[in-house]
Amino acid sequence: MTRPACAHIDLGALRRNFNRARQAAPASRIIAVMKANAYGHGLVCIAQALDAADAFGVVGLDEAVTLREAGCDQRIVLLEGLFSSGDIALACGYRLDLVIHSDHQLALLEQGRLTRSIDVWLKIDTGMHRLGFAPDRIDAALARLHALPGTGDVRFMTHFARADESDADSTAVQIEAFRTALGGRAGEQSLANSAAVLAWPAAHADWVRPGIMLYGASPIIARSAGALGLAPVMTLRSELIALAHRRRGDAVGYGGDWICPRDTLIGVAAIGYGDGYPRHAPAGTPVLVNGRRASLAGRVSMDMLCIDLHDQPDARVGDEVILWGDGLPVDDIAAAAGTISYELLSGVGTRVHYVYD
Ligand SMILES: Cc1ncc(COP(=O)(O)O)c(C=O)c1O
Repeated sequence: MTRPACAHIDLGALRRNFNRARQAAPASRIIAVMKANAYGHGLVCIAQALDAADAFGVVGLDEAVTLREAGCDQRIVLLEGLFSSGDIALACGYRLDLVIHSDHQLALLEQGRLTRSIDVWLKIDTGMHRLGFAPDRIDAALARLHALPGTGDVRFMTHFARADESDADSTAVQIEAFRTALGGRAGEQSLANSAAVLAWPAAHADWVRPGIMLYGASPIIARSAGALGLAPVMTLRSELIALAHRRRGDAVGYGGDWICPRDTLIGVAAIGYGDGYPRHAPAGTPVLVNGRRASLAGRVSMDMLCIDLHDQPDARVGDEVILWGDGLPVDDIAAAAGTISYELLSGVGTRVHYVYD
């Protein structure tokens, strides 16, 4: 029998979330962000379902090559650009756009040889202080780019540090810093991640770069995905593989630190941290068993987790367990486990069986 841990991917929900981005930023073209295996959803299947996207954004050159070889003809942007001069030949051969964020990357381009013209996205640091050229370095970077024989169109981008906080003024400050830095320079612009697509219209510009919203999780702190018009794409499911009645006072799981508060039924589901379910999800974290809410009991193991089924005395081996997704927002599980939806979704393990519909 196949182990029942399974990720159901709802491609209809994916397309509706994409349309939500389109509707929120109607004048912008969309770079669908697909890095980390499309946030754990499966790179090629997601790209094929999003054929309405104007471009795809990935980090790994291998992801870009996979997309091209799978027949994706859209613009593909390498969001962190080159890692070594050896990447140049592949970027040329597979018609990839490069983000250029540092003098080191400019030097790699200068040392290598562009065998065809390559479009570049010059990344400007407007306040996140992670990657990008400071505004006063833009002219020098452009001069080096234009001195290269193979530079095609140059576009400009920046990334926000706090767009998920709707009350933070730092996003407005970054938008203004970007405008000031570019002045009247010609060239298309891109600023917005998912949070800015939904909450910062002033950041929409020529291209938006939604990621997490496509997959149906909330990009904005304290706003639920449902309230933002987003639907979950991944439902992580498994089944009960064992049940046993336990007595009040019995200890359940590793460490024995969860003690049955009453006589109860404990179910064991075939999924654990080896599948990407967060080990730090505490007892009490919600799960759905047969569509009804129940809660974790004891520590999550590598392959299993225990569920307190005191109000489902009729539960049986083989019954469905939903860990997140349909009816149980991944954001809720992330909050319980002290992390974010991005980490949970992109961390779903290779043992999990994927089903697309
Ligand atoms: C450069 C860049 N743009 C866009 C995104 C998409 O962000 P989000 O998933 O929050 O929409 C990311 C993801 O972190 C990114 O690194």
